[in-house]
Amino acid sequence: MDSLRPEVFDFKGVSMSHYFTNNWENIQNFQARPDDILIATYAKAGTTWVSYILDLLYFGQTSPECQTSIPIYERVPFLDIYTSELSGVDLADKLPTSPRLIKTHFPVQFVPKSFWEQNCRVVYVARNAKDNVVSYFHFDRMNFLQPEPGDWNNYLHRFMEGKLVFGSWYDHVNGWWKKKQSYSKLHYMFYEDMIEDTGREIDKLCSFLGLSPSVEEKNRITDGVQFDNMKKNNMANYSTCTVMDFKISPFMRKGKVGDWKNHFTVAQNEEFDEDYEKKMKDSTLHFRTEI
Ligand code: PPS
Repeated sequence: MDSLRPEVFDFKGVSMSHYFTNNWENIQNFQARPDDILIATYAKAGTTWVSYILDLLYFGQTSPECQTSIPIYERVPFLDIYTSELSGVDLADKLPTSPRLIKTHFPVQFVPKSFWEQNCRVVYVARNAKDNVVSYFHFDRMNFLQPEPGDWNNYLHRFMEGKLVFGSWYDHVNGWWKKKQSYSKLHYMFYEDMIEDTGREIDKLCSFLGLSPSVEEKNRITDGVQFDNMKKNNMANYSTCTVMDFKISPFMRKGKVGDWKNHFTVAQNEEFDEDYEKKMKDSTLHFRTEI
């Protein structure tokens, strides 16, 4: 499995691995449809959570059998990925659903232009940098399609330098935030808000998507997507994914705001905060690192 681990290299100014650049032409030429919904995030920001919410909102009643038989990563294909066994573009092209729910971790400038031309709806999820990097660290330990993470201190510094796969978190969250100012069909949401009040965030999503589930349906979805329920759900928890080793760390790991406090030393926290201030000084984005 270790032989699968890729190198990180600079690709058009963004740190990437070959799993997300090898299919570049086909990805860039991907033909989006007007009703496609793109779920965009920096890795580990809550993609699976929002994917499952959207999947239940659209298909929970019409095709409930899919939710118990097809893993979430097939129902919501990861457009960017290309391995010897898996092509996100092929999976998306073959999706029988309408709308198609499609996932990406690309920074905004890498998104295929057809999504913008077709005026597709986009849901962006952002997570505070400290919890995001902790989650990514544990993910890179257990996912053999990711580069070897090394030790935590080194990893944290590479995150600050924008050297992890999919590049700088700072550029990612700000790039998408800027896009929202000019592209009205982008719903920008925060992991911390979802933790605080999942039902409220589902309401906001429904209003953005023009959906009006019944109260019972909404309550059923809110319950089904709680962390403990998703962790138990083999079609949502990635337990069927062979490139991940849950003995090292589970995909559904903690699901909390503030786990960074169990990882950052006082010195790391001070250095991180100082650097963060500089990198985010021109941004109007505000993240909560505790709730
Ligand atoms: S990926 O691989 O980039 O698609 O990962 P992603 O789904 O974006 O992020 C995984 C983290 O989200 C947490 N998660 C949840 N938290 C709360 N509630 C629910 N339902 C939920 N589902 C997933 C998951 O546990 C990862 O965070 P950490 O902090 O590692 O636990």
